[in-house]
Amino acid sequence: MTDTPASYSGPQRIFSGIQPTGNLHLGNYLGALKKFVDLQEDGWDAVYAVVDLHAITMPMEKGALLSQTRQIAAAFLACGVDPKKSILFAQSSVKAHVELAWIFNCVARMGWVERMTQFKDKAGKDAERASVGLFTYPVLQAADILAYKATHVPVGEDQKQHLELSRDIADRFNREYDAPGFFPLPEPLIKGPGARVMSLKDGTKKMSKSDPSELSRIALVDDADMIAKKIKKAKTDLLGDMPSEVDGLEGRPEVENLVGIYAALSGESVEAILRQYGGQGFGVFKPALAEVTVNHLSPITQRYREILDDPAFIDSVLQDGAERADAISAPVIAEVWKLVGFWGA
Ligand code: AMP
Ligand code: TRP
Repeated sequence: MTDTPASYSGPQRIFSGIQPTGNLHLGNYLGALKKFVDLQEDGWDAVYAVVDLHAITMPMEKGALLSQTRQIAAAFLACGVDPKKSILFAQSSVKAHVELAWIFNCVARMGWVERMTQFKDKAGKDAERASVGLFTYPVLQAADILAYKATHVPVGEDQKQHLELSRDIADRFNREYDAPGFFPLPEPLIKGPGARVMSLKDGTKKMSKSDPSELSRIALVDDADMIAKKIKKAKTDLLGDMPSEVDGLEGRPEVENLVGIYAALSGESVEAILRQYGGQGFGVFKPALAEVTVNHLSPITQRYREILDDPAFIDSVLQDGAERADAISAPVIAEVWKLVGFWGA
């Protein structure tokens, strides 16, 4: 659908968000948070949100939203998002998201949104009972990104389709309102190990907050014993020892996942890991993986607990972030209002 190249010439910027629902896990860390920090350290202008407006698209435990929002903000900080370098805020505190989402609801076509597989997964069999918000969830996501004219979006592999929709919406807005290059066509940043971390119990399913089995995921708050236990119990296969070459991972999704996690956490290549552990049993590899995981996560977990103990600090970060996010997005909304032709704009 997006056949013209982007003629956007504004500055490059990153936007990404995480929902305040459930406990964060290793997939969120490797697919998203770790990348956010790496990009920040590479000097990117980055805007990160706890996307609480998205969270209410699904039923939530009563009264839980606010504390979960602070928890996710604490996790961003614990992983190394630095509020002096990047902007961190709660989505609901900046009006641009809701405002632009309405405009985009009128730009996106039913057929585009109906194709989104995440809606089908989340709505399940009884789609008639899903909220309308769950259906337009990816339209709000496009608004999140484009309210900042973000050009790049670090996310896990599962968000690829939503990013394609964001590009289609940006392109259609630019054409419909005769504003070539007004919105950039945002690019996903999905590369690298960890873009798709799989369940520890089934190498064909992604690690997910909603899997009923706690053993399927490593939570960012798990302690060393729990991490070791979950890795020990992780599913492997009956196809023998660790392979020594990448080809040997074919048809072995569980083993490939464990090696991928090791690679993403240690920074070593899959080849080097297989050279080291090839021909050995999982009785050797799993404890080594547990050690790498614990060494990487335990400082994060400790910082996370310290930050959670200081809600006033979290709130001050979010307040400052909201002001800075508003300063970028409010002028974009004012321009959109003019382009659409609303009275008084
Ligand atoms: P969510 O928890 O759905 O709000 O996801 C937050 C971020 O984590 C998004 O960028 C997802 O793409 C990413 N993510 C979630 N699960 C995984 C996974 N199993 N592997 C890699 N990235 C993931
Ligand atoms: N939909 C994303 C997820 O489930 C969260 C999200 C909302 C997001 N708005 C975003 C991610 C904007 C990137 C950019 O993970």
